[in-house]
Amino acid sequence: MQEMNLEHIDISGKPPIEEIEKQYYYMAILKKWVEKKSKELGRPLTCCTVTFGCQMNARDSEKIVGIFEKIGYQMVEDEHADFVIFNTCTVRENANLKVYGRLGYLKKLKEQNPHMMIALCGCMMQEDAVVEKIRQSYRFVDIIFGTHNIFKLAELIHTRLESKSMIIDIWKDAVEIVEDLPSERKYSFKAGVNIMFGCNNFCTYCIVPYVRGRERSRNPKDIIREIEALTADGVVEIMLLGQNVNSYGKNLEVPMTFAQLLEEIEKVDGLERIRFMTPHPKDLSDELIEVMSKSKKICNHLHLPVQSGSSRILKMMNRHYTKEQYLELVDKIKEKVPNISLTTDIIVGFPGETEEDFLETMDVVKKVRYDSAYTFIYSKRTGTPAAQMEEQVGEDVIKNRFDRLLKEIQSISAELVGRDAGTIQKVLVEEVNSQNHALMTGRLSNNILVHFEGNKDLIGRIAEVKLTECKGFYYMGKLVEGSDSTI
Ligand code: 5AD
Ligand code: SF4
Repeated sequence: MQEMNLEHIDISGKPPIEEIEKQYYYMAILKKWVEKKSKELGRPLTCCTVTFGCQMNARDSEKIVGIFEKIGYQMVEDEHADFVIFNTCTVRENANLKVYGRLGYLKKLKEQNPHMMIALCGCMMQEDAVVEKIRQSYRFVDIIFGTHNIFKLAELIHTRLESKSMIIDIWKDAVEIVEDLPSERKYSFKAGVNIMFGCNNFCTYCIVPYVRGRERSRNPKDIIREIEALTADGVVEIMLLGQNVNSYGKNLEVPMTFAQLLEEIEKVDGLERIRFMTPHPKDLSDELIEVMSKSKKICNHLHLPVQSGSSRILKMMNRHYTKEQYLELVDKIKEKVPNISLTTDIIVGFPGETEEDFLETMDVVKKVRYDSAYTFIYSKRTGTPAAQMEEQVGEDVIKNRFDRLLKEIQSISAELVGRDAGTIQKVLVEEVNSQNHALMTGRLSNNILVHFEGNKDLIGRIAEVKLTECKGFYYMGKLVEGSDSTI
């Protein structure tokens, strides 16, 4: 099925049984309501979505925006809107605090505009304590839903309009993957594509398996169909999304590996670049490394979260690899995919982390030489095994380790970033440079930014650019004339 046209939906009778048809039915009803309201107000109804957290949430928000646009809301950036929706994250405590802070501000806005509707969704809403707190202390919120029922948004808004009281609809796990929802892409030339949802790994610090549920893979046919539609619409780069992409396909009726899926995706005409995140080091297969080494489209970049360099801490984290195994894996990847750009995630201050453990992490950083790394201070998440562990590390110790780690990472990445200076590289041209409009900004296969003189017709195309100078974290370049190679 393709995205449906609301004009052809009969809203005079009962809602259809089939889930996706039912949702389009509610969208058609809401469209009429939005038209009526807009007429009364003499202006379009506006909606602002605010996304916290990771790329999964960013992709979910595109689906949310798709539904709002379909029912006739005009999307705006500002929270002075008729509908505000927060797509929340709960991976670390400060993500939650941000949401509570911004809710206080929304309360004031709602006092000025009593017609305003406020919805909260995403990972934070999968926690019982959060929902209870909102139910009691943030009574002005209209709708709360979770990570498993985003597809129901139109139905929930409809229920809210009928009931006049707060609607809470949280599912503990997903029932089905609902395909063919409308979706609004942020960029015309690159897009995120979910390949799987949920996580079964239960790293002891991580709340994701509790809020995103068990692993479910999308059918490869649906994935390929979506990518073909995207490329037909001008997309040249896709980012495959999953909490642990290496587990792709295990629960399909006909099992398939992630490497096999990549080989199928590689065949899609018009697609130039494939990225993916996130692979877990414990099951990154030789087959995947082989496919990466042969591929013409998979980008020269691998995000491989290490989390800690200490085998003792890795065991306590339930990561299922040791420091040595991780380093061996990195060596194998570097050998098979020369010049690959490696990035990682590191947690500092996991319970019980000693100075020796921390030095093991520093050692991994020095040996692997990451192009860049996301570093996080351990955050205690209620309900996870690590929250029960004794010896939580003191704040000052963590801060000191964090600063030392950051310094090391930055000094290595400064050494690495200039390594392609003087070469000609393929660049996906993304936008006009925000500071100097004579310049275009694009990305190399390894994700590094390049600025060069060019015309905005190049946006969304792959061009060849000579990297003339490295400026720390980006390059200046010169367009190789007549090189824009795309289609
Ligand atoms: N505290 C700090 N960082 C965390 N991450 C996940 N859970 C926590 C936590 N409780 C980090 C991990 C993961 C990234 C997305 O977030 O490094 O890879
Ligand atoms: Fe969290 Fe570990 Fe799953 Fe990643 S693999 S989402 S860190 S439990």
